[in-house]
Amino acid sequence: MTEREQELIRLAEEEVEKNKELVERDPYRLRYHLMPPVGLLNDPNGFIQWNGTYHLFYQWMPFKTGHGAKFWGHYSSKDLVNWKHEPIALAPSEWFEKNGCYSGSAVEHDGKMILFYTGNVKDEDGNRETYQCMAVSEDGVTFDKKGPVVELPEGYTAHFRDPKVWKKDSHWYMVVGAQSEDLTGKVALLKSADLKDWKHLGAIAGSGLNGLGDFGYMWECPDLFELDEVDILVASPQGLKPEGMKYHNVYQAGYFVGKLDYEQAKFEHGEFVELDRGFEFYAPQTTLDDKGRRLMVGWMGVPEQDEDKHPTIAHKWIHALTLPRVLKWVNGKLLQVPAEELAQLRQVSMVELSDMQLSEDNAGLAMEEERAFEMSFSFGRDVTSFELALGDAAQLTYDDSSSVFSLHRKSFVTGEWETRSCKLEALTELRAFVDTSSIEVFLNGGEEVFTARVFPGCDSAAGKVLLSGSGTVEKVSVWEL
Ligand code: FRU
Repeated sequence: MTEREQELIRLAEEEVEKNKELVERDPYRLRYHLMPPVGLLNDPNGFIQWNGTYHLFYQWMPFKTGHGAKFWGHYSSKDLVNWKHEPIALAPSEWFEKNGCYSGSAVEHDGKMILFYTGNVKDEDGNRETYQCMAVSEDGVTFDKKGPVVELPEGYTAHFRDPKVWKKDSHWYMVVGAQSEDLTGKVALLKSADLKDWKHLGAIAGSGLNGLGDFGYMWECPDLFELDEVDILVASPQGLKPEGMKYHNVYQAGYFVGKLDYEQAKFEHGEFVELDRGFEFYAPQTTLDDKGRRLMVGWMGVPEQDEDKHPTIAHKWIHALTLPRVLKWVNGKLLQVPAEELAQLRQVSMVELSDMQLSEDNAGLAMEEERAFEMSFSFGRDVTSFELALGDAAQLTYDDSSSVFSLHRKSFVTGEWETRSCKLEALTELRAFVDTSSIEVFLNGGEEVFTARVFPGCDSAAGKVLLSGSGTVEKVSVWEL
């Protein structure tokens, strides 16, 4: 480790210590989500199960609640529920990363954990350079930087970042989020036999490619993986305009289903589908574990979306990661299901009801003070409308006549109600994870997901749950988490 790196790590650790008490005193500090110990967290990075342990890194700015020269923070876990905060994995100390060890991924090779990340470099005039770098670990805790392994290929601007690497047959592949010289968003594919020497095969998807029209000026954080018989390309495009119920956040995160032709470096795919319909979700990353599950974690935030207005800034921290979700490909649909291990979070069963008739009058679930809980509902076919109020902070509504499901929340900027919606043919099932300042809602076995930060007023815990509507709720269960 260079002296500069040691110094940066020491300064970051000092910042954590100095602010520990202030950060932990925040009533909005989450109970069961991964957060930065101080400062700003953004993308999940390097998600991998290595020697039986899950490792999840994150983009981290320790010195302020804004963006800047990022570090890689590091968590590990045996079970996706109990996480250990590990020592800092990467600090932006070297010339090829001096303005940030930006996002990337991890693979296992010859028993070692190998990280690929973007070295972000800017000069005094703001000119950008980008290097895709490698770092190797034998113990899963300390990382030996090997420097750049990919220089910027021709045809792209310096907005070329976030390498995601995987192995297919005898070769390694890398997708990189990019902007081509015509200033449109792309995903570049590269290939290597040895992880060091990389060849650029071309852009496999992006604005103006594969029948896609104008589709943004930059695509960030791509991920490509096989799920049963299809290939899924995940990406976070920037520059889409709202369209009906779609694309209402500042930037989007979604996927294309198709088939990658590794020989021709061509990816034929269908339409772009948003992964999450809520307010805060971006830059997700997946990994395959030893149970054969494709796990995904996202950033519970969106770049430049009122980041400076988050109430947690008063306590010197901002943002969190989502819960881990398992991706499934079922009958031509992508489903996202909370990892089954999350059932370990359940402490006390608070509500267990069968055949509850909904009516126009609000019915309260008996759990006034809860701030962290899981709710699960199965609905009868006769349900034509459903409303659930979480204190004064958020509401979930479904209306059968319009087939629209919505999440409403009180804006943390204006205090006014704001809404995100999607079409849902029927409402059969709803599962929601509520934390002190977040909600993740899974509908119909994971057909649609809504993720959002919610900041209930101090005198009103989200746990005051009121139900109304028409039809039968066959089963309701609530657990304190
Ligand atoms: C996405 C992103 C990435 C970049 C990282 C920097 O949120 O902008 O493209 O690598 O964040 O923190």
